[in-house]
Order: sequence, then structure tokens, then C-alpha cells
Amino acid sequence: MNDKKTISGFSSMRKRDKIKWMAKTFFTDPEAVIHELSSYWHSSDEQQKILDGFSENTISNFPMPFGVAPNFLIDDKTYCVPMVIEESSVVAAASAAAKFWMSRGGIHTEVIGTKKLGQVHFLWYKDPEILKSTFAKAKEKMLKESASIEANMKQRGGGILDIELIDLTKSKENYYQLKASFETCDSMGANFINTCLEQFAQSLKNFYAAHFGDNSGIEIIMSILSNYTPECLVKAWVECPIEDLGEFKGGLNAAAFAKRFKDAIDIAEIDPYRAATHNKGIYNGIDAVVLATGNDFRAIEACGHAYAAENGYSSLSHCELKDGNFYFYLEVPLAIGTVGGLTSLHPIAKRSLELLEKPSAKKLMRIIAATGLAQNFAAVRSLVTTGIQEGHMKMHLQNILVQLKATDEEFEKAISHFQDRMVSFAAVREFLSKNRKLISPN
Ligand code: MEV
Repeated sequence: MNDKKTISGFSSMRKRDKIKWMAKTFFTDPEAVIHELSSYWHSSDEQQKILDGFSENTISNFPMPFGVAPNFLIDDKTYCVPMVIEESSVVAAASAAAKFWMSRGGIHTEVIGTKKLGQVHFLWYKDPEILKSTFAKAKEKMLKESASIEANMKQRGGGILDIELIDLTKSKENYYQLKASFETCDSMGANFINTCLEQFAQSLKNFYAAHFGDNSGIEIIMSILSNYTPECLVKAWVECPIEDLGEFKGGLNAAAFAKRFKDAIDIAEIDPYRAATHNKGIYNGIDAVVLATGNDFRAIEACGHAYAAENGYSSLSHCELKDGNFYFYLEVPLAIGTVGGLTSLHPIAKRSLELLEKPSAKKLMRIIAATGLAQNFAAVRSLVTTGIQEGHMKMHLQNILVQLKATDEEFEKAISHFQDRMVSFAAVREFLSKNRKLISPN
């Protein structure tokens, strides 16, 4: 194909040549693009090499804001939580909610479980009874042959917990699974689990080949961890006497606020359209800490939404008003790590973990869940009182002012002008241009 937009051998080109080709092929201002992209390279070659090592075909770095939310009192200890997020208001909202609860006992957490899962999917073409009656022996072989892979993890207190045989032939002809469970201690454990699973698959295949030769009756389809880990679960909650909630914007007293807040949570429990937005608000907080600590936010989100959908998609958080008490809690699966992977390689992720005083994986589960809960509290509190736009618009105004290159003086004037007016790009531009004309009529 003679298409100028296709290329072969791209991955082995030098970075500068990759950028040059891309800029010249896809942009009308290639020199500006080359200049801009290379301006985001790290000033240290050594650091840039580390960043380049995380992916392929890297041409530059993609900056994201790295913020912190202080005043998080979690299980009687104060944290300053690192958050990487591009959405304005999220860090401010998390900080405000953390401060609100700090004077009401803080956020409490409990790790319910840390079990990780993996599967070997296979087809069995012989009599099902043969598979079932020989499985104990096959399992023995799988465990024995993965002992060397498991040794290190075992030393750290983890390892393979169990391997179960699951019959799924009712859903798909001949289809069975090995469902294996693991304890991976402070690591997320993806590599360990996948290596074990591939060994299980090999051992299983060999076991039946030894019995039945070439026509062993087994066909391995694939071996991979499951990102759905409902038993790697953490709970975070806040509680206080309703009267201690205080007064709220919009003229709501504590009792009226508590009722309306619970109504909002009930709605997210019964309506999936609202639940998705509600849970998205929770993940604004969760993902930001997950990213800041070098964990895999796609895995965390996939798992959380699968968990939320267990009995029809619903809210991950719940609220109870009982005996004059306000009780708001979140239960969320979080398969994360504080050693291995990016956690120690990424220079800022490493600093995030230091900021949190080098937590164990369990401690980090608690911190992340607490941040998700605080984020959710802040969002729902705004929604049922002032509405979400009040806070958003302040940040939106600032972003527009930056875009329009407003001076410090113009910033101040605009913020005071738009305090009780609708913010839009056009309105801010008009305000600035009128103001500029007043100062310099030419
Ligand atoms: C926006 O990023 C998140 C919210 O929509 C969450 C919610 O509605 O609960 C404000």
C-alpha cells in the first residue's frame, strides 16, 4: 500500500525521528509540534529513560496535575492524600469532605478480604466423571509443579490458596474452569498469578496426556487472572449523631440534610442511570489515588463496576439513618499493591507512597476507600444543597481566564464579577474585552 500515513519499522526508529515523521505526516505545523512535544521531555535523560520504559513508541510525556488533599483522618491517623486527576473541583471537594469529617471522628475503615483470583479456561471432551474423579490428583500435580514459582510469595506470607474445578457445561458445551485463589501480600500480584496459572495449565495438560496420550481429552483455551475480585474488599464509613452534621447551604438544617442525602443515595441504589454517575463520582477519588500511587486504574474500575452490577447495577455506597445517627458507608473491591510494578519505578508514584508513609497494600486499600467515600460525600452534599455547578463554575471560570490570558488584576475583577452571574466562555470574554477597552480605549 502506498499510503503516506502508514510506516513500517516505526518501533525501531529513534525517538526524534518518530516525532519528526508523525509531525510531518499528520500536522500542518510540524515544527511547532516537534518543539512542543520535546519541551515535555524530562530534563534528565536518565529519568526520561525510566518513563520511556513503561510503554512503547513513546514520543513525549503527557502531563497531568498532581495534587494533594490534606486533613484526611483515617482510623485515627492523619494523611495528606496524593491525587492525580485532570478534573477541576475533585481535589478541592475531597479535601473539604475530609475536613468536614475530621471534626466528626474521621473516616473509619475495615479490610474485609484480600483474595485475588485467576482462571484457566479449558474444554474437556471425555466423560465428565473422569475429570471430576481425577481432579484431586491433577490438583496435587499442579500445586507441586508450581511450588518453585510460589516460594518467594510464600516466604512473604502469601501464595496459592486453592484451585477449584468449576463445571460450566450448562452454559457452554465442554467448558470447565480452574478457579484459583491467591494471597499476594503487598503486591498487586498480576505477574505472580499469571505465571502460576500458565503453570497450572501446563501441569493439567501433562497430567491427562500421561493418562490418555495424544487423545488426552483436554484443550486449554487460556489462562489469565480475573480482574473481578469481590473478596479483595474494603469498607469505609463515616458516622455521627444527625444533629452534629450542622447547618448546610441552601437553608437546610441537619435533619433535613440527612434525609435528603439518604434519599439521594437510595435513588442511586435503585436507578442504574443515577448509579453510574454516582459511582463515577466515587471513582473520581479512587482513580486519582490509584494513579498517584502507580496502580492500575483500569483494573480497579472494571472490578468496581462488576461488583456494583452483582445484583443489577447499583450504588457502591449506602446510607442509614437510625436512632438519630447518620451512617454513610462504601464497600468496594480494591486489588492494589504497594510493591512491584510502577509503584517503585515511577518517581512520583514512589513519592506518593512516601507521602502516605509507605503503606502496606491493606493500608493503601483503606486510604483509597476513604478517599472514594469522601469524594462521594462531597458530590452528593453539593447535589442536594447548592447544586454541583457552584463549585464547578469557580474552577471553570479560572480555566477560561487562563485560556484568555487574563492578568492577576483581571482575575480578581472577574472572580468578583461572576460571583453571582452565569459563567460561560462568551460572557467571560465579553467581560474581559469591555474591561480592557475601559483601561486602554485604543
Ligand atoms: C462529576 O465528575 C461527578 C458527579 O457527577 C458525581 C455525582 O453526580 O454524584 C458530581
